[in-house]
Amino acid sequence: MTVPFAPRLAIIVVAAGSGTRLGRPEPKAFVALAGRTLLEHALEGVFAQPEPAQVVIVAPASHRDEATAIGRRVAGAVQDAVTVVTGGDSRAASVAAGLAAMAEGIEVVLVHDAARALTPPEVFTRVVQRVRAEGVGVIPALPVVDTIARRDAAGAVVEQVDRAQLAAIQTPQGFPAEAYRSAVAAVAPGAQHTDDASVFAAAGHPVVTVPGDERAFKVTTPWDLRRAQQLVASDRSALRTGIGIDVHAYDESQPLWLGGLYWPDEPGLAGHSDGDAISHAICDALLSAAGLGDIGSQFGVDDPRFAAARGEVFLTATLELVRAAGFEVVNVAVQVVAQRPRFAARRHEVEALLSRTLGAPVSVAATTSDGLGFTGRAEGVAAIATAMLRS
Ligand code: CTP
Ligand code: MG
Repeated sequence: MTVPFAPRLAIIVVAAGSGTRLGRPEPKAFVALAGRTLLEHALEGVFAQPEPAQVVIVAPASHRDEATAIGRRVAGAVQDAVTVVTGGDSRAASVAAGLAAMAEGIEVVLVHDAARALTPPEVFTRVVQRVRAEGVGVIPALPVVDTIARRDAAGAVVEQVDRAQLAAIQTPQGFPAEAYRSAVAAVAPGAQHTDDASVFAAAGHPVVTVPGDERAFKVTTPWDLRRAQQLVASDRSALRTGIGIDVHAYDESQPLWLGGLYWPDEPGLAGHSDGDAISHAICDALLSAAGLGDIGSQFGVDDPRFAAARGEVFLTATLELVRAAGFEVVNVAVQVVAQRPRFAARRHEVEALLSRTLGAPVSVAATTSDGLGFTGRAEGVAAIATAMLRS
């Protein structure tokens, strides 16, 4: 399997189950939750994790095309490679199909249930970091809150189990890729493993836990689907929008940095920093949505940290402020008004870079102003951005 860049991380999203316990006619991953399929919700978390990755979607044969379309749509501008394969009769067979499609050069592989549709991106990051740091199998886990009893076939309680020793295991489960591939290849015929880590452990490798997340629960029954619906609905009620505008005049003596990218052979922009109007407009939109003032009040022009600073420096610093105020970025949209540079050829590159920096989809459009005004006279660049945040 070749992909357009060389990711070191693969995320296998298993979505090939039928969802017997949910009891819907369509496979579970394609059941709607607040207007979008469970698979779409799951992929949103996957694509929002910050490392460029190969995302392998394992779909039922009947829904391969739909899975491909969903993968493309949710990935949007994010620079992840998306591979879609057909799953098998068991979850283990589906995972094996995903593994077989893994690209060359992958160091860390994560296996994730599409049914854990609301898993936040931080869980992926926690798992990846621990696999990298220690070369072990890593699984997200939550403490067990209920009292647990062992009972016999007739339903009589045999003993209570000390729940302090127990953990409820979630996905994504992460592994060093080569060791995991060998562990899967070495599974004894007929062996029953209930999850990915037990396969890895059976091959003699250590497995450790990192904190899971309540939101990573698996949608299994109709009751779970209702709970997921309520969670998504309550999230939406806490959305906030913001707007930002920035203008810089051309300065032929400067190099052009716009949208975080260097544009050779284009007139630069004047300014205390690098004059990156796109990045600055986004910062203002983010701060505006969070009610945190604006770029001028947050990063004073006499602050030496920001003299000649790249747009990315402002974006990263702004993101920190917004997160510290309890928000995450849902998406950002930018409209550039300028004669130069010609945007179309590099629009996707700008979107990919900005999406990566903010950990959320950023879309950028460009227009000229029909010869009118300062943009029409080619005196400078204007950028207008809107941002949506979720608390
Ligand atoms: N899965 C899969 N291939 C299978 C079985 C399961 O890819 N043959 C995936 C499911 O799509 C799901 C995850 O594994 O994302 C966890 O499985 P589970 O919750 O059991 O889903 P289903 O098997 O679809 O549901 P049920 O057991 O109720 O039929
Ligand atoms: Mg199942």
